[in-house]
Amino acid sequence: MGMTKRDFLRSIGAVAGVGAAYHTMSALGLLGPAMAQATAPELPLGSGYGKRVVILGAGISGMTAAYELSKAGYHCTILEATNRAGGRNLTVRGGDVIREIDNRQWVDFDQEDHLYANMGPARIPYHHRAILGYCKEFGVELEVFTNDNRGALFHNAEAFGGAPVTGRQVMTDLRGYIAELLAKAVSRDALDDELSGDDKERVLAMLTSFGDLDPDHLYTGSGRSGYQGEQVHAGVSPGSLNDRLDFSQLLKADFWEYKLHFGHFLNQNPTMFQPVGGMDAIARAFRARVGHLIRFESVVEEILKRPEGVRIVYRNQRLNQEEAIEADFAICTIPAPVLRDIPNDFSAETQAAIASIEFVHAVKIGLQARRRFWEEDHAIYGGISWTDQDITQIWYPSNGYHQTKGVIMGAYIWDDQPGQGLRFTRMTPPERLRMAIAEGEQIHPGYTDEIESGVSRAWLNVPFQKGGWPRNSEAPPALLKPDGAIYFAGDQATALPGWQEGAALAAHAAVEAIHARVTAG
Ligand code: ALA
Repeated sequence: MGMTKRDFLRSIGAVAGVGAAYHTMSALGLLGPAMAQATAPELPLGSGYGKRVVILGAGISGMTAAYELSKAGYHCTILEATNRAGGRNLTVRGGDVIREIDNRQWVDFDQEDHLYANMGPARIPYHHRAILGYCKEFGVELEVFTNDNRGALFHNAEAFGGAPVTGRQVMTDLRGYIAELLAKAVSRDALDDELSGDDKERVLAMLTSFGDLDPDHLYTGSGRSGYQGEQVHAGVSPGSLNDRLDFSQLLKADFWEYKLHFGHFLNQNPTMFQPVGGMDAIARAFRARVGHLIRFESVVEEILKRPEGVRIVYRNQRLNQEEAIEADFAICTIPAPVLRDIPNDFSAETQAAIASIEFVHAVKIGLQARRRFWEEDHAIYGGISWTDQDITQIWYPSNGYHQTKGVIMGAYIWDDQPGQGLRFTRMTPPERLRMAIAEGEQIHPGYTDEIESGVSRAWLNVPFQKGGWPRNSEAPPALLKPDGAIYFAGDQATALPGWQEGAALAAHAAVEAIHARVTAG
């Protein structure tokens, strides 16, 4: 067609805003790394003047969309069912009251800055550039979140007599044994078809280094796993190496299924961050910018397409009356398990897409400990201990080191095989705490006496959420395009379910698509 690269960029920039042009230029390799950092759409000032957008939900996605559209002059209104902004971005502190469908919990943590629990999102990977970009733009102070800690524990009731073992032992010994096995195969010429003579020597050298093998390519133990006694390290005297963990027990335990390489998943890689003082710093920063656009306690009751836009009927809970709003466009971030029950005139394809999204039965339990026993007794600073019990994991705080008290995440359940998510959801809050403490006792003997108070969040049981995040790893295609003038956003409309980054990127996509439509006339 004779279209030059410049024409192509100009057309993308015109219909989709500068943000899209940035993405495209970046994809074409026309920008250096610094320029490629710009991830938010930058719509021309005033380009949305006279256009109305109603946004359903004041979570991270809805507020991102409102923030970006408002900058371009769009008239935005956000309908939010609850009386707070942030959606699943929820940090609790002493004195808070949180509600589920059939319970209310009063948070009995001491009122100190470091004693809080992020009951929703709690970590941000280094490559989540959109959400980190907002943290930078809004001045949300970040600190490192420790996800992977070699000093934290692995526990499996069926292995090692049910005794927890440290991450450094599991990782070191498993590597050592695997390296030894592979070295044996190479030395016995079993891989000659795959390896040239030179590569055989290189593989053996690599395995020796990888697994800390001895000169005979045997794994006989390693200082990487630590030393016996109170001290982890050798100290002044040479010390005695830890005994190797039994290989057969290591294979029997479930550690290798995903827990051992958890930090290797792209979205769980170090470096990770958390906002200082709680994840809700991000929600508060957005609210400070778009709060005036939010109609709180406005429960959407009907979503209707109109020839020239949308009509949303909602109940104003404060005045207990039905109200309606018409707009040129809607951006719907309402979670699928809630959205599917709201009367609408979506296409059959859209309805089927919404019905197909299942949310994870996620549960989190924050526990305040009277003493930071994990630091004092085990030198555990942040990170995760894993268990095959229902609680799945214990998170140690990546803040408040060496203070007297601390808040740990005493359970973070995301699996429902064989039913732990639902089991905990159906318990009363005191039952959840008792069960979490009893299971924690298997990892930290004496735990029961260390815990002072706790609070739980079973997301399936939370009004206007009804689940943690989509179990599907990708959004159904029908949610990636508009239905009439209704665009879908939220993490459910991305391939990053369960991440604030997904929420922000879905908002960007909706904003750019609306802008392209407006610009195209
Ligand atoms: N993104 C969530 C997590 O990291 C699901 O746990």
